[in-house]
Amino acid sequence: MRSYLRLNTPQLFTREERGVYTLNRDAESAIQLKVPQVQTFKAPILVGSATLHHADCFDWLEQQADASYHAVITDPPYGLHEYTDEQQAKLRMGRGGVWRIPPSFDGHTRSPIPRFTTLTAEQLKQIRAFFFVWARLLLPKLVPGAHVVVASNPLVSYLVSAALAEAGLERRGEIVRLTMTMRGGDRPKAAHDEFSDVSVMPRSMWEPWLVYRKPLMGRVQDNLRRWKTGGFRRPSQEKPFGDVIPSSPTRKAEKDLAPHPSLKPQSFLRQLVRAILPLGEGIVLDPFAGAGSTLAAAEAVGYASVGVERDEHYFEMASAAIPKLVHFSPNGSQSRR
Ligand SMILES: C[S@@+](CC[C@H](N)C(=O)[O-])C[C@H]1O[C@@H](n2cnc3c(N)ncnc32)[C@H](O)[C@@H]1O
Repeated sequence: MRSYLRLNTPQLFTREERGVYTLNRDAESAIQLKVPQVQTFKAPILVGSATLHHADCFDWLEQQADASYHAVITDPPYGLHEYTDEQQAKLRMGRGGVWRIPPSFDGHTRSPIPRFTTLTAEQLKQIRAFFFVWARLLLPKLVPGAHVVVASNPLVSYLVSAALAEAGLERRGEIVRLTMTMRGGDRPKAAHDEFSDVSVMPRSMWEPWLVYRKPLMGRVQDNLRRWKTGGFRRPSQEKPFGDVIPSSPTRKAEKDLAPHPSLKPQSFLRQLVRAILPLGEGIVLDPFAGAGSTLAAAEAVGYASVGVERDEHYFEMASAAIPKLVHFSPNGSQSRR
C-alpha cells in the first residue's frame, strides 16, 4: 500500500478519508493531497548501466535502502495536475485541460505545453506540499553531500524552492538553462490589435534548474573521500562548472525518438549529468523519468543511473527511447566520459 504519509513525520498529516490527507502545516494553510489508486507495475528495464522502474516514485522511494544515491537530476510534474490521468487523457485527445497548443507561426505547429498561469491558489499550495513530501522521502535515500537538481519554471520555482529547503535540503544556487520557451510575450487575449505594443508577461527566455544539496558530513574533502559527493565535476582543469548553460528547445529529431511532451535535450542534460558526480562515481537518480532523457544522458557520459516513471505509456516510450537517445549526437555536443 502506497502512502505519502510514512514520512517519519506523521504529525504533519491527518487522514480525512481513504486516499485523502490533510497537511497540518497550520490551520490556515491546511491543504489536501489526493492519493491515486494503486496500479499494477511492469518489470524494470535495463539499458547498459541504466535501470528504469515502472512505479510511483513516492512508494518506490520508501522502499529504497538509506544512503543509496549520489545525485538527483529530475524534471518533475508541477504538482498533482498536468500528469494526472484526467489531464493526460485530455492531452492525448488534444482537447481541453491544462495542456495548451501555443499559437503556430512561421508555418510550424507547436507542441502542447502546460498552462501554469491557470493554477488556482489551492493548486499552488498543493505544489508546495507535493515537493515537501517528496523531499522528505528522498533525503534519507541520498548520501551526505548529494546534489539534487530540479527543473522548474519561473512561475512556480519559488514554491518548489521553499518546499525543498523546508524539508531539509541546502540551497546551493540555480542553473539557468538559456532557452526560448513558448511561455509569455503574448498580447492581451482578444485585444491584440487594440494593445499591439503590450506583452502581458515577459516572454520566457530561460528555465531555472534549482540546485540543492543534502547537508555534508564534515568538510567537502571528507565527503569527496567517503561518499564521492559534495561538489561538481569541472568541465576542464581551467574552467569551473558554471550556472548558465546555453541550450535550445528540444529539436524535432530528438522528439521523434522520444515523443514526450516535456522531453529535455541531450545536449543540455549531458553537461549537467556529467557535472553532478564530482569524481564521476556513484548513481544518478531521476524519480520523474518521463522518456528517460536523464538516464540516457547518464549512460552517454558513462554513469550508472536509476529512474522511476509512473505512467505506463511513458515507461514504454522510455524503454524504446533510451538506447536511441544514448547514441543521439546533438550538434556541437557529443557524449563525453
Ligand atoms: C516533466 S515529465 C519528465 C520528462 C523527462 N524530463 C523527459 O525528458 O522525458 C514528468 C514525468 O513524471 C511522471 N510522474 C508524475 N508523477 C509521478 C510519480 N509520482 N512517480 C513517478 N513518475 C511520475 C509523469 O508521468 C511524467 O512523465
